[in-house]
Amino acid sequence: MCGTVGTADQGQPVVVAGWVNHRRDHGGLTFIDLRDHTGVVQLVFNPAKSPTAQAVAERSRLEWVLRVEGTVGLRPEGSENPNLPTGAIEIAVDNCEVLSQSEAIPLGISDDSTADERVRLQYRYLDLRRPRMQRNLRARHRFIKALRDAADEMDFVEIETPTLIPSTPEGARDFMVPSRLWPGHVWALPQSPQIYKQLSMVGGFDRYFQIARCWRDEDLRADRQFEFTQLDLEMSFVDEEEIYEVLETMISRAFEAAFGTAVPIPWPRLPYKEAMVRYGSDKPDTRFGHELQDVSGLFSTSKFRVFEGAISSGGSVMALRVPGGAELKRGELEGEWLQVARTYGAPGLAYMWRRAGAFEGAIAKFISEAEQAALTTQLGLADGDLVCFTAGPTRVAATAMGAVRLHAARRFSWIPENRFNFLWVTEFPLFEKDAATGKIGAVHHPFTQPHPDDWSLVGTDPERVRSRAYDIVCNGVELGSGSLRITRPDQQAAIFEALGLSPEEAERKFGFLISAFRYGPPPHGGFAAGIDRIVMLGVGESSIREVIAFPKTQTGGDPMTGSPTPVSTEQLTEVGLRLGPRALPGNPAGVGDRGA
Ligand code: AMO
Repeated sequence: MCGTVGTADQGQPVVVAGWVNHRRDHGGLTFIDLRDHTGVVQLVFNPAKSPTAQAVAERSRLEWVLRVEGTVGLRPEGSENPNLPTGAIEIAVDNCEVLSQSEAIPLGISDDSTADERVRLQYRYLDLRRPRMQRNLRARHRFIKALRDAADEMDFVEIETPTLIPSTPEGARDFMVPSRLWPGHVWALPQSPQIYKQLSMVGGFDRYFQIARCWRDEDLRADRQFEFTQLDLEMSFVDEEEIYEVLETMISRAFEAAFGTAVPIPWPRLPYKEAMVRYGSDKPDTRFGHELQDVSGLFSTSKFRVFEGAISSGGSVMALRVPGGAELKRGELEGEWLQVARTYGAPGLAYMWRRAGAFEGAIAKFISEAEQAALTTQLGLADGDLVCFTAGPTRVAATAMGAVRLHAARRFSWIPENRFNFLWVTEFPLFEKDAATGKIGAVHHPFTQPHPDDWSLVGTDPERVRSRAYDIVCNGVELGSGSLRITRPDQQAAIFEALGLSPEEAERKFGFLISAFRYGPPPHGGFAAGIDRIVMLGVGESSIREVIAFPKTQTGGDPMTGSPTPVSTEQLTEVGLRLGPRALPGNPAGVGDRGA
């Protein structure tokens, strides 16, 4: 391979093949850097020794594919390249064959190429030649291989579950596949193998796993694609502790094998409620401190109406100390910082600077001396600090301040590099109320067991019910979720009822699962980890698109194939469908428009 020829091969005949990375003519000789995924090697063509090969080299262009035969020699003194693993040697070429030619390429193949992402995805097959993409996808391969090896050693059986299924309740929209044999009927692509893995437990496979492709029709972000891959697993006769242990072992082993970084286990655990109070997030970034402070106790009788009002209506005032923040100007705080708080629902962001032993800023005059003193003590404030506040319903105030904490962390470089802080977030609420509709929904999914002490609240005060659901979080990213499942039909019926599902609807949607639970289901629980997200963190990327070979753009299209494509009338007729008025002709934004 190009990158593996070395000084040990000196004097040896070799054959290499690869792509022309660079070509130059110098002193009557032609030099080509030939590249494959292992690296580059310098070829030297001497017209005096091999005129035919030199003639081929002279007409070769970037990204042509060559196969050469030659002899390895040391580079002349002074022309070594210490930055290159093969920098001490070169191959003196005897024969050169052109295996294929390339037109001028539309994007640079080197890692410092600045091509726009749309162009990169349109020519993904070229983009994949870049060393960075080669590294990322090979690391992904090693990660999945190591997961499979670990699962196999722990007696897990990989079972392939179907991908044409009825709808699964993971909370996103389904991708639907119309049925030709049953016109007007559809299949759903699985949002996860959830139901089938539970049925595998009933089927006596007590340790199931799968590297499973899942589909969810949701808006795309840096950590979301329509289709993504899970390490999905389920176990019988276990409690949370055994599930935690299996995942910690599997993921830490595979992480080290793929990315070369040791991940100490066991991972810390943080109940959901505590995560919200301390970090304003259910996926806290614990690589740095700077935790939030609930300062409601200081302001319950305050003259500052904004704070007092929030507290008297049952909410909270959250604060964040920003050391060095006194240097921030009003414009920045009332611009970017306020915008961050607003994005997460807070109506405003109050703040004070601490300079020369006193507080400054628009709200300082409303905060009594006693309140200022108590605040200074609780937060350990010092000169040069900024303190910011959000006030409102507890969850909103905390979430908005959590987002401000992350913004401050980036602004003041609080986040250490090359750290992986894995943790478990536990005791998630079982239900949540949809802010828009007021309807109760499952936070995880409707098969999750409530905390045993909270069954009595299921029918009366659902929002206070804790669940036996847990997440793995690392560096502020949700990497996976799981739970212990309900296996008693009567308990499952109570949960469906709390979710507002009529017995008929529950029977229609999940009757097959409830039926299965009538035939000796083992107690079971499981987990699914997002492989794309873990690999993204492991290789140090900030988007999962960098670790997926052929992803969709952020706007949900594929500029390479120009899809999604319009559907023909014949195809529609075959499955008994007709388009409604919303389906206008044309392409989704940016899709199919292949540029010049
Ligand atoms: P959940 O819905 O939390 O749980 O999904 C598990 C993990 O899958 C990843 N993930 C995604 N990754 C990329 N793009 C997406 N659109 C996307 N959606 C989810 C995340 C997430 O943490 N069946 C349950 C698991 C169980 O209970 O066993 C489930 O799928 O990393």
